[in-house]
Amino acid sequence: MEKSNKNSEQFGDIKTIIEKITYMKSKIHIPVMPREVLKFLLINEDGVYVDATAGTGGHTLTLLSKLKNGKIIALEKDAEMVKIFKENVNDARVFIVHTSYLNLHDILKELRIEKVDGILFDLGISSPHVDNPERGFSYDKEGPLDMRFDQHGTFITAYDIVNGSSFAELVKILKEGGVNIPTRIARAIVKAREIAPIKTTTELAKIVKRAFARTFKNKKFRKNVVAPVFQAIRIAVNNEFSELREGLKRAISSLRVGGRIAIITFHSAEDKIVKDTLKEFARGCVCPPKQPICTCNRKKTVKFIAKLKPTEEEIEINPRARSATLRIAEKIAEE
Ligand SMILES: C[S@@+](CC[C@H](N)C(=O)[O-])C[C@H]1O[C@@H](n2cnc3c(N)ncnc32)[C@H](O)[C@@H]1O
Repeated sequence: MEKSNKNSEQFGDIKTIIEKITYMKSKIHIPVMPREVLKFLLINEDGVYVDATAGTGGHTLTLLSKLKNGKIIALEKDAEMVKIFKENVNDARVFIVHTSYLNLHDILKELRIEKVDGILFDLGISSPHVDNPERGFSYDKEGPLDMRFDQHGTFITAYDIVNGSSFAELVKILKEGGVNIPTRIARAIVKAREIAPIKTTTELAKIVKRAFARTFKNKKFRKNVVAPVFQAIRIAVNNEFSELREGLKRAISSLRVGGRIAIITFHSAEDKIVKDTLKEFARGCVCPPKQPICTCNRKKTVKFIAKLKPTEEEIEINPRARSATLRIAEKIAEE
């Protein structure tokens, strides 16, 4: 499995690639690891690709830059992002659908496409999510506690989670989302909401900062304490972990043999889900070694191709890329 991305220079220098993609696009989210996505995912210039988390179109534009007669089916759960995507991407080879990647099978069926050559997942939030305080994703701009990607189809908001979850539920959500001191943060939230409901992003950020300050007297341990809490709540609001598990399985079943899946994650819990899911497909028979005949009927259906981190050069241009991990796997047999 490849672990270095030094050969991706074949697509040009990262600054030029990003400039080309973002040129004249006012609300575009800078795509993470575009060279690596091109090198490892785009293996057939005339193939059919799925951008499962299309966002504002950065990765779709990246793929388009090397695609000839191929097609891209772009899926996006957030209506606001779909609108921006349409402003940024105007190309007859692209078909954008406002839907969750969980509906990939139905979309492909409607388009009479049986299997695809590659699927990209780029998880997390888009830059316009953070730029618009009304969406509730930003912790330093005042806004309602919302955090839903799909404001029409998702009914539980961050407000409901923060004010309506029990103490134990809050601890679980924070822990699963990778928060350092989940019990203390949950306790601080419960205590604050006993006085009045926590309504805004900045109120929640203040409560979290105060709890951290009490726990870590030394300021150097307090860096970026609010971001993981907001991230954990966002993951719970959008049911991101279980959607990811299921979405990956459905995506792999839509790949043709020889097709590839690429997934960009931004924190360890997310990456673990990706790694474990791919491992499950990469493992063959799980029967005990002494058993003469296989009864589990499991087949090895994918192989690992690469696990990559962004280069220092990319992190300098796009600091958001810092925590990214890109995993690529190839389908080697039908299930
Ligand atoms: C990091 S952004 C993608 C950015 C995109 N690659 C680009 O270059 O602009 C992740 C996007 O996934 C979307 N998303 C989250 N869950 C989704 C789902 N289940 N199905 C489709 N899109 C989803 C979010 O709304 C967000 O816009």
